[in-house]
Amino acid sequence: MKVVVKLGHSLIGERIELEKIRHFAALLKKRISEGDKFVVVVGGGAVARAYINASRILGGTESFADNIGIAFTRINCMLLISALGENAYPTPTTSLDELKQALRLYHIVTIGGLTPGHSTDAVAALSAETISADIFIKMIEAGGIYDKDPKVYEDAKLLNEVNYEQLLQLILENKNTKAGEYKPLDLVALEILRRSKIKTVVVGSELENLEAVLRGEEIGTRIKWSDTAK
Ligand code: UTP
Repeated sequence: MKVVVKLGHSLIGERIELEKIRHFAALLKKRISEGDKFVVVVGGGAVARAYINASRILGGTESFADNIGIAFTRINCMLLISALGENAYPTPTTSLDELKQALRLYHIVTIGGLTPGHSTDAVAALSAETISADIFIKMIEAGGIYDKDPKVYEDAKLLNEVNYEQLLQLILENKNTKAGEYKPLDLVALEILRRSKIKTVVVGSELENLEAVLRGEEIGTRIKWSDTAK
């Protein structure tokens, strides 16, 4: 099975979660011994955000700040590569062509940001499209997609399934909230995943959730592209 996993703040947040990174690497190593292939898409985490904000305050343009974010995503990939050792392509890939080539040689390949103007969600969607992934798993602290921002509304409900129109609405509703607030999925990512009908699941950031999805359990939120979608 070809799997794309997107890690946001879950592994690399305010501080580096060494045990979680070790556990994640062990899980991937076990799965590749059973024949799976992984593209791991790594976000910038809290440290990247701090630098992005500082750059803005100091007069950096938005695209320059994006480039700072991209640099951090690649450093985070390198951290993960440290734990994956020889099982992983030795450097973060910096283009989709390189990603495709690298996955022919290695069972695990990492990728961070690519170009300014979007988040690593979009990179994950493009990666999934490029390698014709069987599944894209996005891991987020919230545990899935809610009908409204769970940090603001106590009665927010976790959705087991969401379709394109519902998700588009949720993304647009959350567009004007402040940075760091509930963000179900990047809009660019949504469109790419939809056009290629990539099987997509959003789950909590605990590694047990990743294991469960790989075992075929239905947890978190599944994005449904159409009645006939995968
Ligand atoms: P992300 O926003 O994807 O990382 O990238 P994150 O915050 O760790 O992920 P989530 O929010 O938990 O899912 C960090 C920043 O890097 C820049 C953007 O500025 C983004 O906010 N970036 C990333 C790009 O400009 N282009 C990319 O392709 C990826």
